[in-house]
Amino acid sequence: MTSDWQFANEFFINEMSADKNTDLFNQPDLIIDTDDNQSWASEELVMLKNSFFESLDTHALELFNAWSNKSEHCSLKVSTYFQAYADQLHSYRGRNCTLVEIGVMEGGSLLAWKEWLGPGARVIGIDINPEAKELEKEGIEIIIGNQADPTFWEVFLKENNDIDIIIDDGGHQYFQQALTFFCILCHAKRKIQLIVEDTSTSFFSNFLEQNEESFVSLMKQVIDNLNLKQIFSKKGLSNWRNEIDLQIVKEYQKIQSLCFYSGLISMKIDPLKGLIPLYLYNANRRTKKEDLRHSGSITGVKFTWPDPTKPRDVLFKGLVESKNKLLVDVRKKTK
Ligand SMILES: C[S@@+](CC[C@H](N)C(=O)[O-])C[C@H]1O[C@@H](n2cnc3c(N)ncnc32)[C@H](O)[C@@H]1O
Repeated sequence: MTSDWQFANEFFINEMSADKNTDLFNQPDLIIDTDDNQSWASEELVMLKNSFFESLDTHALELFNAWSNKSEHCSLKVSTYFQAYADQLHSYRGRNCTLVEIGVMEGGSLLAWKEWLGPGARVIGIDINPEAKELEKEGIEIIIGNQADPTFWEVFLKENNDIDIIIDDGGHQYFQQALTFFCILCHAKRKIQLIVEDTSTSFFSNFLEQNEESFVSLMKQVIDNLNLKQIFSKKGLSNWRNEIDLQIVKEYQKIQSLCFYSGLISMKIDPLKGLIPLYLYNANRRTKKEDLRHSGSITGVKFTWPDPTKPRDVLFKGLVESKNKLLVDVRKKTK
C-alpha cells in the first residue's frame, strides 16, 4: 500500500540524492548542523537523510514541513523530535486546543505548531526576553515571563485554564526544567501534556550549575512513583517493600504516564482521572490455572548495567526457588 506520505517521502529522498546536488549541507529540505571540521562524508549524509525521512510517519513529516516552511524564522530542532511530537500530539490536530511553548526566540516553532495543529489551535509563546512580544500576531499570543518563577506559573495557569499542551524549549537548565515541572504539577486542574525538549542537557557539564541531580535523574525518580501508585489498590499490601514513603507517592499521583525519547521527555499530568490503579478480573472468580512464575530456571546471567558514566558488571543474584525446591544460584552456574 502506498500512502500520500510515502509519495511525499520519496519526493524528499529523490531531491536529496548526492549526484543531483553536491552542496548537500545547504539543501533547503534538511540543513544539518555540525561542529566546524566535523562534517559528514557525502555518502553518510545521504544515508542519514534517507533514514531520517524514512523514519517519519505522515504526522511527523507534516510537522517537519510546517516547521521547515518557516525558514525566515530560524529554529533548531533535533531530528528525533519530529516523530516524538507526532506520536504525542497528533490526536490534537484539527481540534480546538491550546498549546503553550516556553522559548520563543524567532517564533519559528510557534508558527509551525499553529499550522500543524490547525485553525482551532490557540498557540501561546512564553519568553523571558521582552523582545519576543514583537512576534505576536494573529493566532499567536506572546507572554513575557520567567519559567523558573513559581509566581509566574500560579498566575498564568489561573488566568489560562484551557491549556492542553505545554512544551518546554526555554532555558534548558536543570532548575528551570525542574521548577517548570513542579509548578505545572502543582497547579494543573485539568489534563496537561508536558513535553520537555533538550533533556540531553542533563549530561552537559555546563548546564547543571552546582546541582548534583539533573532533570533526567528527577524524571527517573518520578518513574518509581508512577509504578508505586499501585500500592493504593488495597491489593497485596504485604508484598511491597516497607520503606516506601506513601506521602511522596501521593504527591506524584497526578502523573499518568511518562514517555522518553532521545533528548525529549513527555508526560501526561491529569488530576482528574484514574488516580488509583485497581486490579481487575474479567470474571467473578479467581483463575483455576496455576501461575508458574516461580518455576522457570534462568541462564545467561552476567550483564553490564547500562550506566554510561559508571558501567559495571552485574550478576543476577536471585536464588530462584524452582518447583522441585532446587535452589538455583545463578552465580555458581556461570562459573
Ligand atoms: C531554544 S530557544 C527557543 C527556540 C524556539 N522554541 C524554536 O524552536 O524556534 C530558547 C528561548 O528560551 C528563552 N528563555 C531562556 N530562559 C528562559 C526563562 N527562564 N523563561 C522563559 N524563557 C526563557 C530564551 O530567551 C530563548 O528565546
